[in-house]
Amino acid sequence: MHDVSLIVNGVPREARVPARRLLSDFLRHDLGLTGTHVGCEHGVCGACTVLLDGQPVRSCLTFAVSVAGHEVTTVEGLAKDGELSAVQRGFAECHGLQCGFCTPGFLTTATAFLRDHPAPSDDDVIEAVSGNLCRCTGYQNIVKSVHRAAELLAEEGS
Ligand code: FES
Ligand code: FES
Repeated sequence: MHDVSLIVNGVPREARVPARRLLSDFLRHDLGLTGTHVGCEHGVCGACTVLLDGQPVRSCLTFAVSVAGHEVTTVEGLAKDGELSAVQRGFAECHGLQCGFCTPGFLTTATAFLRDHPAPSDDDVIEAVSGNLCRCTGYQNIVKSVHRAAELLAEEGS
């Protein structure tokens, strides 16, 4: 067993976990943050994507002990002071979700992508979300949502 201390969504957290505990299970079962979804459990679907020091990672392929001392952002950490983030509002406005199972992974992926690519082309967006699978939407509204989120972020920054 190992003691793991880290920052999750801006809050210091600690837990004692086995060395083999996956970050996805750590977040969901040890910290109760069930917004991170687990689909394939082998790095393919992207549903479990969280931000590790701001970069998207598959939490189902990451050991909890390996992120000790680092900062993790889950979908629960995207809204600030009860206000949805620009990326969340973009997805809500453009119907970028249906059942919502894949959505936490798309939101975290898009958040990191738009931070580094504030005015993306269609091709940029398609490539950015190509590691996330959605069984419902057909992706067109997801691409629209990311573009709308870019507009909202630009408005916030202006
Ligand atoms: S559950 Fe992690 S990539 Fe599918
Ligand atoms: S909205 Fe259902 S899997 Fe994407």
